[in-house]
Amino acid sequence: MSSPVQINHSTSQQKVGTLPFAALCKSLVTSGLFLFFFYIVLFDTHQYQPSDLLATVKQKWPSSSATKTSFSTPTNLSHIVFGVVGSMNTWKNKRFYSQAWWRPNVTRGYLFLDRPPTNEFLPWPSSWPPFRVNEDLTKMKTHPNFLKPTQVRIARTVLETFRQGDQDVRWYVMADDDTVLAVDNLVGVLAKYDHTNKFYIGTNSECVKSNFDFSFEMAFGGAGYAMSYPLVASLAGKLDACLERYPRLWVSDFMLFTCLSDLGISLTHNNGFHQIDLFRDVSGLLSSHPQTPFLSLHHIDTIDPIFPGKNRPDSINHLMKAAKSDQSRLLQQTICHHRPTNWTFSVSWGYSVHIYENILPRSFLRKPLETFRPWKSMRPPLYMFNTRWPTNNPCEAPHVFFFDSVENSTEKDQITTTYIRVFPRGLPACSSGGNHSADHMAKIRIFSPAKLPLEAGGRECCDVVHTSGMNITEVRYRPCIKDEVTA
Ligand SMILES: *[C@@H]1O[C@H](CO)[C@@H](O)[C@H](O)[C@H]1NC(C)=O
Ligand SMILES: *[C@@H]1O[C@H](CO)[C@@H](O)[C@H](O)[C@H]1NC(C)=O
Ligand SMILES: *[C@@H]1O[C@H](CO)[C@@H](O)[C@H](O)[C@H]1NC(C)=O
Ligand SMILES: *[C@@H]1O[C@H](CO)[C@@H](O)[C@H](O)[C@H]1NC(C)=O
Ligand SMILES: *[C@@H]1O[C@H](CO)[C@@H](O)[C@H](O)[C@H]1NC(C)=O
Ligand SMILES: *[C@@H]1O[C@H](CO)[C@@H](O)[C@H](O)[C@H]1NC(C)=O
Repeated sequence: MSSPVQINHSTSQQKVGTLPFAALCKSLVTSGLFLFFFYIVLFDTHQYQPSDLLATVKQKWPSSSATKTSFSTPTNLSHIVFGVVGSMNTWKNKRFYSQAWWRPNVTRGYLFLDRPPTNEFLPWPSSWPPFRVNEDLTKMKTHPNFLKPTQVRIARTVLETFRQGDQDVRWYVMADDDTVLAVDNLVGVLAKYDHTNKFYIGTNSECVKSNFDFSFEMAFGGAGYAMSYPLVASLAGKLDACLERYPRLWVSDFMLFTCLSDLGISLTHNNGFHQIDLFRDVSGLLSSHPQTPFLSLHHIDTIDPIFPGKNRPDSINHLMKAAKSDQSRLLQQTICHHRPTNWTFSVSWGYSVHIYENILPRSFLRKPLETFRPWKSMRPPLYMFNTRWPTNNPCEAPHVFFFDSVENSTEKDQITTTYIRVFPRGLPACSSGGNHSADHMAKIRIFSPAKLPLEAGGRECCDVVHTSGMNITEVRYRPCIKDEVTA
């Protein structure tokens, strides 16, 4: 895989020679600022008494993350340190979710707990993130004034993750213990940003009201967010003073947002993180995922299991079976039409297939079916995206199939995912489409490439191989021809 950072870096070097004078001055000013920033980070310690560990980290920083070699090599999983916020009371139920994405001895990071694990969890399995216990807040001078000490503990987890002193870190990714992450996709997304700059990358809530109450420019922590090393290094020296400045804040994400704002940092919005401030059945949302890599899923315990007939941990592990074979396509929506039947296939790879008995456009199908409810009941508009109502109109109601199994065949360069019908649609055929009922359809097989990952934000086209009367239909993915129109 090519490295976008590397490409950007070398093109910017090449361009300097041909830049007009003003632009050259600007770039010199920028690099001057950069050096100045180095100076600040490295030597400006008089306002803050760092722990010995932090002081060590600061000294080591120039030789680790900011060296030329690390700047010019592609970002991989080993450059990310994960900080997972948990608590002893809930770990028993939430452990399944961290375990679903954590890769022992591969992913780096920590689970932060409010108190040491009880005997029930000891010895601590190596399949879980290693645990740390959050620092004692009572040592902070404002402690009695904190409105929500638990939220302060959560907000400080990024600082305590940093103080672990890991080497060669480009990104810190923070998440909750009920968050499932797609780490390969995360690497791909973060590799596009320059980790030597200060970045705060994440997304806000699905619900307008949640964003209105806090900020449209705040990263919601359960969805997970990423901060570049230089940003966390700056924040580390300033966070406690900031938290003491605003003791009445009551939500950790808002504390962080407030402190980052004071440092002049704004959120870089990146779709694909999912806060899931929703209730009930999110299958409508997961079947019309935005056209961007899937990065996370949160609040798994507050929504219905994402697969019918499975419990929550089994549902997540089931989705991860598909993720293991191909994260790049996971939940990516691919649409194709079958003219002889006037059917539309909308595939959410690794999750679901919808068959509509009518030719429907992508602009319609990309709107999630509103199978879910918002965090708080409010007057519309409820969501940050358009939705469509589930309907009994036979021309707009899908036949729904859920992911069942995956098979690899690297020799044939093919991944086969199979989707099965769980319940009948229970509606007559769509008349205007020509009365071609799909009621007898029981199984869909999707063939996608094993060796060619889907480019982030890209699309694929597909062909339907359907024999009249058969209860299995095959769909073959292929690259779209230039400017191919799906309509
Ligand atoms: C990640 O990149 C570093 C260079 O920055 C390299 O030393 C390391 O081997 C790579 N790790 C993996 C797992 O590819
Ligand atoms: C991780 O590494 C440690 C030590 O190198 C080893 O004891 C342990 O079995 C490994 N865990 C897994 C799950 O591979
Ligand atoms: C499919 O292939 C991928 C990558 O080669 C591998 O990691 C995964 O375990 C395989 N999955 C199955 C179901 O064989
Ligand atoms: C579909 O079936 C309905 C009722 O069976 C009929 O009224 C209608 O004309 C049919 N439409 C087509 C296009 O065949
Ligand atoms: C598909 O639908 C169109 C109109 O919606 C209709 O004219 C055409 O006959 C249908 N095709 C088939 C094969 O039923
Ligand atoms: C699909 O058809 C095959 C034979 O045509 C039959 O054996 C099988 O039971 C059918 N499956 C379902 C779920 O109807």
